[in-house]
Order: sequence, then structure tokens, then C-alpha cells
Amino acid sequence: MQLIDGKAIAEQVKQEIAAQVAEMVANGQKRPHLAAILVGHDGGSETYVANKVKACEVCGFTSTLIRFEADITEEELLAKVKELNEDDDVDGFIVQLPLPKHINEQHVIEAIDYRKDVDGFHPINVGRMNIGLPCFVSATPNGILELLKRYNIETKGKKCVVLGRSNIVGKPMAALLMQKAYPGDCTVTVCHSHTANIKEECQAADIIVAALGQPEFVTADMVKPGAVIIDVGTTRVPDSTRKSGFKLTGDVKFDEVAPKCSFITPVPGGVGPMTICSLMKNTLLAGEKVIYK
Ligand code: GUN
Repeated sequence: MQLIDGKAIAEQVKQEIAAQVAEMVANGQKRPHLAAILVGHDGGSETYVANKVKACEVCGFTSTLIRFEADITEEELLAKVKELNEDDDVDGFIVQLPLPKHINEQHVIEAIDYRKDVDGFHPINVGRMNIGLPCFVSATPNGILELLKRYNIETKGKKCVVLGRSNIVGKPMAALLMQKAYPGDCTVTVCHSHTANIKEECQAADIIVAALGQPEFVTADMVKPGAVIIDVGTTRVPDSTRKSGFKLTGDVKFDEVAPKCSFITPVPGGVGPMTICSLMKNTLLAGEKVIYK
């Protein structure tokens, strides 16, 4: 079994981006600029956004953090989105999700100029991704593709099971793994809460991407010997022995599954660090104006 070290790969990719930014700046080009909007004080979102700002520093990007209290109206938030759309200095921006319940997330996502949508959530980017056109691909699936590539994991003709059908992980992951490319060319099955025989589907899989948000859902009896296991789960399970009060727990029962497989991502340190790294790659592409002029 080989452990997929997402933390190490993410550091490597960020250093590669930093080198490219240094070259851009040396050539008289502007530093890529990422802006992030954070609404409210959700613990998870605060951590994610702080890590995104930190990653921008490592990559040599300019970053701007815009904070609003949870009682901001949808109109006020949409006005800020419009302002960022029109700000020529901002190459790309994100609105951290989830948003408070009184704000319609889809309205906000669709208000973002797709040419600055470095999260890849706008329907134009989602649609372009599905038909294989250049676009901003959402961070988690893109990070997983990068891991498969950097570990030279064969995907062509493999049977892949994606557990979960979310718009930001399951659906795009399935579309990308079936695309005519490397990584890709897989035969993909998407399983969800209404799938019959999930265990049997998993047992037939060469690659499992677990993105259900159910801690330790995938057990050893569900895994074919030699399978590749990608764990996207990051549930905060209460743990009084830790200073933080929680343990980040994946969707895979790591201790019993790891000995059976060929490659596996740990939690933490697997897919998680790659997610931010993908956002940095999209920001670089936005700064270079290579996807959309
Ligand atoms: N919340 C959880 N993941 C993400 C992400 O990738 N982007 C944004 N904007 N919000 C998130």
C-alpha cells in the first residue's frame, strides 16, 4: 500500500506556482489577485478562508479578504459581487459557502462573472467542464485528478465508484473521470443515499472516491484488494482528548482499508490540502487570462 501524500504534493504545486508568479512579475506582469468573501463566523469557513489567504502568500498572489456579518442582505452581498466583477485589479474571487439561510446561494453563484469564478461553480463553468471545454474546474475534483496524475495512477478502462452526488464533488468528479483524457477514461458509477447494493458496487471498483460526508462509511469488506481509495470526507467528530475538541474524520475506515489497497489518501493530509492548491492554480490561470481572455 502506498500513502498518497496530499500535503507534500500541495506544497510542491504551490512552489511551482510561486516560481511562475515570480517569472510573471519579472516580465512586468501584474501579480494574480484573489478576493474572498466570508459571511458570518462559521468555524470551518473561517479556517478554510484563513488557509486560502495563507496559500496566496506562499504563491505570491495579492489577496483581499472581505468580511460581512451573518445578517447581510442578499442585495448587499450581490452588490459586492457586482463590484468585484467590475474591479479590473481582481482576477478571480470566491464567496465562501455555506451562506446564511436567508441568502440564496445559487443567486450569488450565478451573479459571479464566470471569467472570475475560480471556484468553478457558475453554470457556465460547470457546463463547459461537462463537455470538455477549457474552464475553471472546481477545486476538490481537480485536486484529486492532480493526485492521480502525480502518482501515475492508471485510470483508463478502470471501474470507478463515486460515493456522493454533490454539485461540488460527486457530480463533477464523475464527469471528469469519464472524460476522454488522462486522468479519465473510466467507467463511472455514482452511488448515493438511494443506491441499492452499495457494498457490491464498491466491491467491483478499481477506484473509489468517497465523498458522502459519512464518517468511516467505507469498510474493508467493501474494498477489492488492490483498489485505489480517495477519501474526500472531512467530518468534525467530537473528541475531548484534542485541544480543538474534534477529530477530522474521513469517509473511509482507514486502519482496516489501508492494508487492502494499492493507494490511499489519509485524512487529514490527503485531498484536503489539494483543494486549496487547485484554487491557487485557477487563480494563476485567471491572472494569466489563458482560459477566458
Ligand atoms: N465551502 C466548502 N468548500 C468550498 C469551496 O471549495 N469553495 C467555496 N466558495 N466554499 C466552499
